[in-house]
Amino acid sequence: MGRRAFVAGNWKMNTDRAGAVALAAAVAEAVAGERPAAEVAVCPPFVYLDAVGQALRARGGAVALGAQDVYDQENGAFTGEVSASMLKDLGVTWVIVGHSERRHVIKEPDELVNRKVRAVLGAGLGCILCVGETIQQREGGMTDAVNAHQVRSGLAGVPAEQVGRLVIAYEPVWAIGTGRTATPADAQDAHRKIRAVLGDLYGPAAAGATRIQYGGSMKPENAAELMKQPDVDGGLIGGAALKADSFMGIVRAGNR
Ligand code: 13P
Repeated sequence: MGRRAFVAGNWKMNTDRAGAVALAAAVAEAVAGERPAAEVAVCPPFVYLDAVGQALRARGGAVALGAQDVYDQENGAFTGEVSASMLKDLGVTWVIVGHSERRHVIKEPDELVNRKVRAVLGAGLGCILCVGETIQQREGGMTDAVNAHQVRSGLAGVPAEQVGRLVIAYEPVWAIGTGRTATPADAQDAHRKIRAVLGDLYGPAAAGATRIQYGGSMKPENAAELMKQPDVDGGLIGGAALKADSFMGIVRAGNR
């Protein structure tokens, strides 16, 4: 136990340059003033990372800069892609990998997710690896198998010494952007089983130290109840991260 809550805003393909900077500034000012217990990060679109990073640093740097994706190669002929070292160059410290929208909308396969995880951790960055079942998989009783498979395949070849920079985000696909949140009991059950998989891979101490965020329609109204669960160590927030007030409401719920 003793895991520090971690609340990260995934802005997805939203905001414009001015809006991104204003949102980052408002979050950074609130965090600098309130000093919440939770660690806080914001993950703007690639094109606004530089401007958002500057806005965060100008306000003390208490809010970390995250990216929503990465490519697994370092550089070369990969048109349109962005490498871990490019992200690092901009002051990024966290990278989301394997988000369900990339897995299901963009059809990113497990093998690519795994290569991205290894690239991020290998570059010395923090990695937020997203896992979670679709509604069909849940109704088919496959939730635990899907989560275990996505954790195991995502972490294939990741050495134990890099796991300190790993965060798992459990994001049931049916809860993302739907207003339908997992119950605290369902979230806790999934998180506990994901932690057991981590224990199997890296031993109980590493599993006990790894943070597992919940994501999927988390809001200020349900965040405290979710984060009160023993294995729910924060949140990965979509829609509610696009307004500083609602995002900060969730960040405060991490004062547990
Ligand atoms: P919502 O909070 O909008 O449901 O999105 C969750 C998510 O996908 C965060 O990565």
